[in-house]
Amino acid sequence: MKNGKFLTMGIESSCDETSVALLLEGREVLSNVIASQIKIHQVFGGVVPEIASRHHLENVNQVTDQALKEAGVTLDDVDLIGVTYGPGLVGALLIGLASAKAYAFAKNIPLVGVHHIQGHISANYIQYPELEPPFMALVVSGGHTNIVEVNDYNSFEVLGGTRDDAAGEAFDKVARVLGLGYPGGPLIDQIAKEGNPEAIPFKRVFLEKGSYDFSFSGIKTGVLNYINSEKQAGREVNRADVAASFQQAVLDVIVTKAVHAAKEMKKDKLVLAGGVAANSKLREMLQEQCGDKGIQLYRPAPILCTDNAAMIGCAAYYKYKAGFVSDLTLDAYPNLPLTDI
Ligand code: KG4
Ligand code: ZN
Repeated sequence: MKNGKFLTMGIESSCDETSVALLLEGREVLSNVIASQIKIHQVFGGVVPEIASRHHLENVNQVTDQALKEAGVTLDDVDLIGVTYGPGLVGALLIGLASAKAYAFAKNIPLVGVHHIQGHISANYIQYPELEPPFMALVVSGGHTNIVEVNDYNSFEVLGGTRDDAAGEAFDKVARVLGLGYPGGPLIDQIAKEGNPEAIPFKRVFLEKGSYDFSFSGIKTGVLNYINSEKQAGREVNRADVAASFQQAVLDVIVTKAVHAAKEMKKDKLVLAGGVAANSKLREMLQEQCGDKGIQLYRPAPILCTDNAAMIGCAAYYKYKAGFVSDLTLDAYPNLPLTDI
C-alpha cells in the first residue's frame, strides 16, 4: 500500500523489452521502466531469442530496482505482482516469471499471471481513466493481429486473428526488403509520408465474407515480386511509394474489419492496442472512420502501445479484483490462447 492505495508491480519480458512498473489502484502509473534491446538485435535484423533471454537476465534486477526507486516505494509496500506468462518467447518469458515468483515467494505477495494481449488492451485503462468495458479491441503488434470483443475486464471473445504473419511482422519484413532496417514499422510509417499510397495497387486480402481473420503473407510476396520486376526492367524502385502503397493496403483491411466488427457487435467504443497502434496512418484512418460511424476511438500514447509492464500490472489488478491468483507453479506458455479467467 502507498498512501492507503493498492500497489501493483507489473513485470514484462515476453520479447525484447525488459520492463517493470508500479501502479496505484491498477491505473495510476508511478513508474514504468522499459529496457529495450532493439539496438542489440538490430544487427541481426530481428529478435534473436537466446540473446533476448540473456539480456533479460542481466537487466531484470536493475530494472526492478529502478522502478521501485522511481515510484518511491519498496517491495514491502507491494500488494500484488503481475507477470506476463504468455504468449511470447519461452526463454524470455521464463526470466520475468522466475523473477516475479522469487519476489512473490520472498515477500509473500500474491502473484497473478497475465496474458500479453490482455495487457496490451489494458494499456487503454491507463491512458483513459474513465474507460470501462464493454468495447471492441483491435490488437496489432509484432506477434498478433486480433479483433477482440471485450465484454468485461476479464471476459473476451476473439473474433478473428491472422492466419499467417502478424501486421507488425509484415511491416518488419517489407522494411527489410526495402533495406530500411529494424524494427521496420516505424521506418515504413515515416518514409510512407513522402510516398503515394495509390502508386502500386497491392492486393487487399479480405478472406471470406464476414470473416474477421487476416492474411498478410500474400502482400509481403506482392511487394517482393514488384521490387524484383522493377529491377529486372531496369527501373529504380521508389521506396516511399512502395512503403506508402503497402501500408495503405494493409491498413485498408485492418481498419475496415475493426470498424465493421464494432458496428456488427453493437459496440460504440473501439480500443486500439499493440506496437503497430503507434502507426500514424492507422491512428488517422481509424479516427476518421470511427467519427463517421459514431464510434468513440481510444488510442494509447505510443509508450503504452509498445511492450511495457504498466499494462501488465493493470491487467493483473483486474484479474486479482475478480478473485484470481496464480500459484508458484505458474509456467511460461509461448502459445497461450486468450480466454476468460
Ligand atoms: O507490441 P510490440 O511492441 O511487440 C509485440 O508484442 O510484438 O510490437 C512491435 C511491432 C513491431 O513489428 C514494430 O515494427 C511495430 O510493432 N511498430 C509499428 C510502428 N511502431 C512499432 N508498425 C507500424 N507503424 C509504427 N509506427
Ligand atoms: Zn506486445
